[in-house]
Amino acid sequence: MHQLMVFCRAGFEGECGRELTDAAAWRGIFGFFRPGKEPGTVRFTLSGKDKPADLMNTLALGDLVFARDWFEILAEFELPASDRVGAVQAVLRELEAALPACQRVEVRIPAGNTDRDLGNFARKWVAPLSRALRDAGTLSQGAGPDVYQLEIFLSDFTAAVVGVSRADNRSPFPGGIPRLKLSGQSPSRSALKLDEAWKVFVAPDRATELLGGGKKAVDLGAAPGGWTSQLVRHGMLVTAIDNGPMNAELMATGHVEHIEADGFRWRPRRAVDWMVCDIVDQPRKTAAMVAEWFAKKLCRYSIFNLKLPMKKRYEEWLECRGLIEERLTQAGIGYRLVARHLYHDREEITCFIERLD
Ligand SMILES: C[S@@+](CC[C@H](N)C(=O)[O-])C[C@H]1O[C@@H](n2cnc3c(N)ncnc32)[C@H](O)[C@@H]1O
Repeated sequence: MHQLMVFCRAGFEGECGRELTDAAAWRGIFGFFRPGKEPGTVRFTLSGKDKPADLMNTLALGDLVFARDWFEILAEFELPASDRVGAVQAVLRELEAALPACQRVEVRIPAGNTDRDLGNFARKWVAPLSRALRDAGTLSQGAGPDVYQLEIFLSDFTAAVVGVSRADNRSPFPGGIPRLKLSGQSPSRSALKLDEAWKVFVAPDRATELLGGGKKAVDLGAAPGGWTSQLVRHGMLVTAIDNGPMNAELMATGHVEHIEADGFRWRPRRAVDWMVCDIVDQPRKTAAMVAEWFAKKLCRYSIFNLKLPMKKRYEEWLECRGLIEERLTQAGIGYRLVARHLYHDREEITCFIERLD
C-alpha cells in the first residue's frame, strides 16, 4: 500500500485531505485520505498503480494550501522501551531495497504534542540515531547530493512511522514551521505573519528583487503597525490605511504616511510595488478588491489574508481563487497566485499574488 504522511494545522485535516485528493486527481493520480490519529496529520493512500514518487514528481508541496509538509511512508513499527535505535535499524534493514541513499534523518512528533518527555527525547535522539545509521551505512557518509532525508515520526513512545522526503519537494523548514523571532520594537505579533509569508512565498534568490531597493507599499488595515513595521524594516515607504491609531514609534521613522480611510475603497494615485491587506472581512470581498488592484495594475505584489468560514473553508478558497482568475483573465493580466495556511494563521489563509507582465 502506497501512502503519504501529510502535516497540516490541527483541525484542518479534512481540508488538507480533500485538497490533496483533488490535486492528485487533476494529475490523473487517484487516492483517498483519512485523518491520522494524531491531530494535524493526514494519511493519503494511492489507490492505483501509482507510487508516491509519481505524485511528488508532478505536484509540488508549494501548490497546496493546507499541507505544511509531507513524506512518503515506508513502514510503521512498534517502538520497544529499550534499544529504540536497534529497532529502527532492524526495520531499515528489511526496507533496504526500497530505501534511497539518505543524507540525514529527521525525527518528528505530532504538532500538538503536550508530552514534554517525547519532545525532549525526539530532539536528543537525532544525534545517536544518525551516528548509528551512519556507522551501519544506512545514512550516507560525508558530503554527497542532499536529495533524500530519512523521516521518523513518533506518534508517542511506542509507535513510529518511517519514510523518506525529497529536498526538492518538502518544506525547507523543520516540520513545515519556520522559527521566527518577534522584534522587541514590533507594534504587534501580527508582524510574525508577514515575516513568515515572505519566508514561504519569496524564494531567497528573489528576496532583493521583491523586497529590496526602497519600494513603495500600501498596508490596508495597518493598525497598530505590525505589518507596516516589516515593510519599513525592508526600507519601504508605506502608506498605512486604517481608521485605528498607528504605533507612535513607527510613525516617528518618517517612512509611514497614515491615512484614515476605508481600505476597500481607497486607491493610490500612482501604482506602488506592494499592497498588503490584513483586514478581517468576507473573503470574497477581499479577493474582489485584490483582483481590482491587479486588473488596474495598481501594484505588482500583494500578500493578503482570506478569513475562511468554519464550514466551507476549502470551497471558499476555491471560490476566491476562481473570482481572481476570472477578473484577471478578463483584464488580460498574467499573474501567479499561491496560498498557504501558515503556522501563524488560524482560521485564515495567507495568499501571495504577483503580476507577471
Ligand atoms: C488584524 S488587524 C491588523 C493588524 C496589523 N496588520 C498589524 O500587523 O498590526 C485588522 C485591522 O483592520 C482594520 N480595518 C477593519 N476594516 C477596515 C477597513 N474597511 N478599512 C481599513 N481598515 C480596516 C482594523 O481597524 C484593524 O486595525
